[in-house]
Amino acid sequence: MFVSKRFASILLILCGAFIFAQTDEIKTISVMKGDSVTLHTGVSDINRDIQILWLFGPENPDTLIAEIYKLKIFIHGSYEGLKDRLQMDPQTGSLVIGNITTSHSGLYTAQIMTDTVTIYKRFSVIVYAPVPLPVIESSSLVSECQISDRGFSCEDCAVKCSAENGPGVSLSWYKGRERLNQTSSPELNINLSLPLEIKERHSDVYHCVAANPISNKTTQFSFQQHCPQYTDSIPFCGCTEAVIRLVISALVGVAAVAILVYDIRSGRVDASPQTNVRVK
Ligand SMILES: *[C@@H]1O[C@H](CO)[C@@H](O)[C@H](O)[C@H]1NC(C)=O
Ligand SMILES: *[C@@H]1O[C@H](CO)[C@@H](O)[C@H](O)[C@H]1NC(C)=O
Ligand SMILES: *[C@@H]1O[C@H](CO)[C@@H](O)[C@H](O)[C@H]1NC(C)=O
Ligand SMILES: *[C@@H]1O[C@H](CO)[C@@H](O)[C@H](O)[C@H]1NC(C)=O
Repeated sequence: MFVSKRFASILLILCGAFIFAQTDEIKTISVMKGDSVTLHTGVSDINRDIQILWLFGPENPDTLIAEIYKLKIFIHGSYEGLKDRLQMDPQTGSLVIGNITTSHSGLYTAQIMTDTVTIYKRFSVIVYAPVPLPVIESSSLVSECQISDRGFSCEDCAVKCSAENGPGVSLSWYKGRERLNQTSSPELNINLSLPLEIKERHSDVYHCVAANPISNKTTQFSFQQHCPQYTDSIPFCGCTEAVIRLVISALVGVAAVAILVYDIRSGRVDASPQTNVRVK
């Protein structure tokens, strides 16, 4: 049997790929919704003797979506919405999916056939939506310095960060570059929520990050905005100022009462004119 040099080299490439495929490796590709992705066959130059079938399925690659045979390309319309987005590279048989949507997440397999060998290239494509911007809310509205037998104590500023959940989404609190806490959930129809008690008042070093494997969004914590009850001039747990204020207002109150009593005693003030009772 006569085998051309070129065909032999392709066979060689395919055999190499065959050994590779034997390991049953599935290449995972993460892609952002709306982007374009190329699934490579690894074949460098297709000739008439090579047939490539592309199969797809959300769980099993069981639907024929594209094919090249005797150098002719066929795109099949069997999977909803996918047909208009598919292109095949006529040189390599690689599959290009344009403007991909989350419903095109799943398993793609290229079945590459010559007269003598069949090899498979498997891909797991995961399409992620961009993560939503996390929202920071104050989770306790009233906060004040309280007197106890140990002295004054102030509540921390309690906030929570939330974001809509989605595939691969996690929500984290950071203090500078240090991650303080993180949450995620396999249940997708919920909002993720992560509480935090903020202790340092002097700088806005905290931020909340929503992330998935391809994108992230950050919301910066701000005392002014998220804990307005703390932005009054009382420094954090520097309750001495609160004490001074309390003492001053108490002194002012005592002084006012003293002056009033003095005035009443000296008969200069009509204490309750409505009832016509006069102080003698
Ligand atoms: C991408 O597909 C969506 C529908 O899934 C469509 O609304 C949008 O216009 C498409 N974008 C482009 C650039 O074709
Ligand atoms: C992380 O958050 C959970 C609540 O979602 C809380 O129980 C836990 O104490 C937090 N861990 C830290 C280190 O703040
Ligand atoms: C998630 O949060 C959004 C507001 O950010 C709200 O409109 C929606 O109802 C919440 N969903 C759930 C399941 O709590
Ligand atoms: C967020 O994404 C940027 C790139 O856009 C990356 O440099 C950064 O490390 C990511 N941050 C986190 C917390 O994942």
